[in-house]
Amino acid sequence: MNKDQLKTPYFMIDEAKLIRNLEIAKQLKEISGVKLVLALKCFSTWGVFDIIKPYLDGTTSSGPFEVKLGYEKFGGETHAYSVGYSEDDVREVADICDKMIFNSQSQLAAYRHLVEGKASLGLRLNPGVSYAGQDLANPARKFSRLGVQVDHLNPEVFDSINGVMFHMNCENKDVDAFINLLDAISEQFGEYLNKLDWVSMGGGVFFTWPGYDVEKLGLALKAFSEKHGVQMYLEPGEAIITKTTDLVVTVVDVVENVMKTAIVDSATEAHRLDTLIYNEPASVLEASENGEHQYVIGSCSCLAGDQFCVANFDKPLEIGQKLHIIDSAGYTMVKLNWFNGLKMPSVYCERTNGDIEKLNEFGYDDFKRSLSQWSVS
Ligand SMILES: Cc1ncc(COP(=O)(O)O)c(C=O)c1O
Repeated sequence: MNKDQLKTPYFMIDEAKLIRNLEIAKQLKEISGVKLVLALKCFSTWGVFDIIKPYLDGTTSSGPFEVKLGYEKFGGETHAYSVGYSEDDVREVADICDKMIFNSQSQLAAYRHLVEGKASLGLRLNPGVSYAGQDLANPARKFSRLGVQVDHLNPEVFDSINGVMFHMNCENKDVDAFINLLDAISEQFGEYLNKLDWVSMGGGVFFTWPGYDVEKLGLALKAFSEKHGVQMYLEPGEAIITKTTDLVVTVVDVVENVMKTAIVDSATEAHRLDTLIYNEPASVLEASENGEHQYVIGSCSCLAGDQFCVANFDKPLEIGQKLHIIDSAGYTMVKLNWFNGLKMPSVYCERTNGDIEKLNEFGYDDFKRSLSQWSVS
């Protein structure tokens, strides 16, 4: 398959870049003894799981279909967490998960009998401290519903569960800040943790970021594990797939209203939703900081403020030209939607030997089926 002939929009996952991240994950595991489970909420393109599997221990999930997918397509340990289980959900996943993590003591009390003897029982705790850039993504935000607050904890609960999960980081690139959180947790919950088999520190630890001190992180996790006699877990999503994938788009028009806007055949609202939700502009591979030609890279959706970014280029952009929106794997493919009836990006993987493999392709029938399968009689 020749890259130049692929129809945009499409995602291109680069195997070599993925392996680079996975090698760092392997190093972290070797130093610390931590187990790593891939957070499927961030990335669940199972067509590349065969590349990831040899490096990680399993998957974690946020809903019943992710549990099924992790079990079927990844294997290893399958962690099942949900902010709110229905009884049907619990019955559906209890047989296929290794660990069932409840978000509240009330859900634990209501459903533990359906899990006991089948999976290890866990509870999410909210440490009340966090490292997250935006309030929207801060698990310790005011009135947070995510996990049990310390002042609501019934200490007896620790006599009848196997482990706990904390998740309080979002894109934390600062190892010292993470270690401070570990220390705070050890101090606040230590006597309870000593009774458990395992503790997960959740996701959001950006250990694949350039310059991250992986050894320092690894030694801190090891020390925590030894102090409390627990198996440690992390649940990385973004750290595993960061900087591995481009969303490739084509300029279909250039319009001008004070600024020039290059309209591309994709939209953040449909294909790269977090650009919009978190108001974090995307980056374009072809851009050059000091380029003389500035453009808004505009989406082809009808939403007025839907744009990828403002970027400078050395040469004027031309209709038909391809642009690579970099770092587009995390929380993108899992959030694709059909807004405006836009063509959904195909998904490809570039293997280390240069081969291009198609993982997914969507057409009008997929759009139509997502809206109704039957009409009123
Ligand atoms: C409980 C839990 N675990 C893991 C993750 C993955 O986080 P990240 O992709 O930032 O590593 C999240 C993200 O929201 C989460 O809520």
